[in-house]
Amino acid sequence: MKVLDSKFAQDFIRLGDDGWQLRFHERNGGNLSYRIPDDRIAEVKEDLDLTREFQPIGTSVPALAGEFFMITGSGKYFSDIKRIPEETCCIIEVDEKGENYRVVWGLTAGGRPTSELPTHLMNHEVKKLASDGKMRVIYHCHPANIIAMTFVLPLTDKAFTRELWESMTECPVVFPAGVGVIPWMVCGGREIGVETAEKMKKYDVAVWAHHGIFCAGEDFDIAFGLAHTVEKSAEIYMKVRAVTPVKQQTITKENFIDLAEAFGFELNKDFFD
Ligand code: 13P
Ligand code: ZN
Repeated sequence: MKVLDSKFAQDFIRLGDDGWQLRFHERNGGNLSYRIPDDRIAEVKEDLDLTREFQPIGTSVPALAGEFFMITGSGKYFSDIKRIPEETCCIIEVDEKGENYRVVWGLTAGGRPTSELPTHLMNHEVKKLASDGKMRVIYHCHPANIIAMTFVLPLTDKAFTRELWESMTECPVVFPAGVGVIPWMVCGGREIGVETAEKMKKYDVAVWAHHGIFCAGEDFDIAFGLAHTVEKSAEIYMKVRAVTPVKQQTITKENFIDLAEAFGFELNKDFFD
């Protein structure tokens, strides 16, 4: 089978286009990766070129040795993913040590995988180990309201989690563990990847101050739905904040407890006063 005929590639492209339509990606902002299951990669083997040289990832991810990922290219525009997926995306193979990768499909007009490759792969490693292999999608985007929040709130996991939970009732249901926050750092390297992967041990969302978010999910819908929910809640927070310094009322600690009981999920108690 051709890569572009596979369901995983079509789902990948759809997420990229949905993100573009929702204005989560200016220019080349953001990136997406998917850890491809063995049986799915076997189906598209005929379309892969396994002859290219391996190159350093820039970090070590031994738990991902031998895995294949579909991933966006560096500098490629999300607005182009649907139109020219073979130019804007690629499939990479990680070597047997988990230290090198090679492109085996895509990037037909040249280029390399996203500059956030170290962060994506370190997040994948953490999530693969924590979920018994179930988590497969890492999604990075630049939604305006969650970025705006990083200029008005203290950059703590607690401040962000509480305000996001309080801004929309569904939020504690969708991300009961909360969100992690990383202060501004230089992006595109190993260091920010290490910090992000640390947060991903506890949460499925990491906020990068003045930059964007990383979300993890078992599939494309879950990862994208998470980013969408966080951003919608951030929009409500920023709207409320813009018109009043003091909320007249909010969702209380008791309300959260009632919600967790009714929906049968475990809320992260670290964020209760
Ligand atoms: P890339 O074009 O290299 O994926 O970078 C975009 C980005 O969002 C960096 O954080
Ligand atoms: Zn970015």
